[in-house]
Amino acid sequence: MKEEAVKLSPSAAARIGRMVVFGGGYTGQRLAAALVDSGVAVTVTHRQAPEPAKAGRETLASMVFDPVLGLVPDAGALGDVTHVLVTIPPDTEGRDPVLSQLGTLLAGLPLRWVGYLSTTGVYGDTGGAWVDETTTPAPGLGRSRARLACEQAWRACHLPLQVFRLPAIYGPNRTPFASLRDGTARLLYKSGQVFCRIHVDDIVGAVLHNLALPESRRPHTLIVADETPCPSSETLGFAAHLLDLPLPPAQRYEQIEARLSPMARSFWSENRRVSSRLLREGLGYRLRYPSYREGFRASLAEELGASPPF
Ligand SMILES: NC(=O)c1ccc[n+]([C@@H]2O[C@H](COP(=O)([O-])OP(=O)(O)OC[C@H]3O[C@@H](n4cnc5c(N)ncnc54)[C@H](OP(=O)(O)O)[C@@H]3O)[C@@H](O)[C@H]2O)c1
Repeated sequence: MKEEAVKLSPSAAARIGRMVVFGGGYTGQRLAAALVDSGVAVTVTHRQAPEPAKAGRETLASMVFDPVLGLVPDAGALGDVTHVLVTIPPDTEGRDPVLSQLGTLLAGLPLRWVGYLSTTGVYGDTGGAWVDETTTPAPGLGRSRARLACEQAWRACHLPLQVFRLPAIYGPNRTPFASLRDGTARLLYKSGQVFCRIHVDDIVGAVLHNLALPESRRPHTLIVADETPCPSSETLGFAAHLLDLPLPPAQRYEQIEARLSPMARSFWSENRRVSSRLLREGLGYRLRYPSYREGFRASLAEELGASPPF
């Protein structure tokens, strides 16, 4: 059965004056498109002005935000903003670019909601044990320590902030399908290792669900993850099954660790299970894709031709 488009109810949409999504990347673009579909006025930022001809982008209002080049919107461009979503990761110095450049300006606006997309990397390595919002962060990687510092810097602004902590984001065109087709996929196995993930439309759905809640019910920190932490060999196996392609030979992680990029090694250096129970049971959000199985099927269908939402 085809899922209905992710949308905000008309009454919740009417409560938003104008939203700016800082970072019109994979998640930002999809979230902005869902809000526009719901009738909300949204502007997304990019470091470069998008080419007008690019498919779909012409439907989303955009502005340039590139602190490195000194291209930052002024008070006139942000004066009527009531809601802000930040999807930009920490910069090379480990600081939040939006806060560094626009913190004072934003703190002076009558903002009704600020959403910040963070990462479950802030919990560090738990040896595979579950974490939830009550778990004290213990980031082990430099980029996760920077992320926690950015969360804390946002909190210190005393804005109506919600931090959404996310595991690996997947969805259409962010799946293992391309690497299976071009032969670059690796089937790695490390004893006891699992990864957590979330379909991009469940991030959109969870954010919209929170926007529709009364302010008093919105948690200040929320994990948005599916219900199925599992080894990457399992997800790759299912992707190969969907494509009817053979799997590459299985390799023990330890045998090829030295040949992996530092970034890939950092992902394999941590093992944890993140719980979205608060989102599902506390706030009543129904995951569209409780596991990679439904999520991969839907992503493949969209990649193969169902028209994308933006
Ligand atoms: N990908 C994952 O698996 C994952 C997992 C957990 C958490 N997260 C976090 O969740 C958020 C959304 O992820 P995503 O995968 O949707 O991100 P994405 O596709 O990489 O998009 C990031 C956006 O931020 C903009 N940006 C990046 N650095 C910037 C800077 N220094 N100054 C101004 N703009 C900048 C990019 O601008 P351009 O449009 O100009 O490129 C892009 O629009 C990010 O904070 C990410 O770190 C991601």
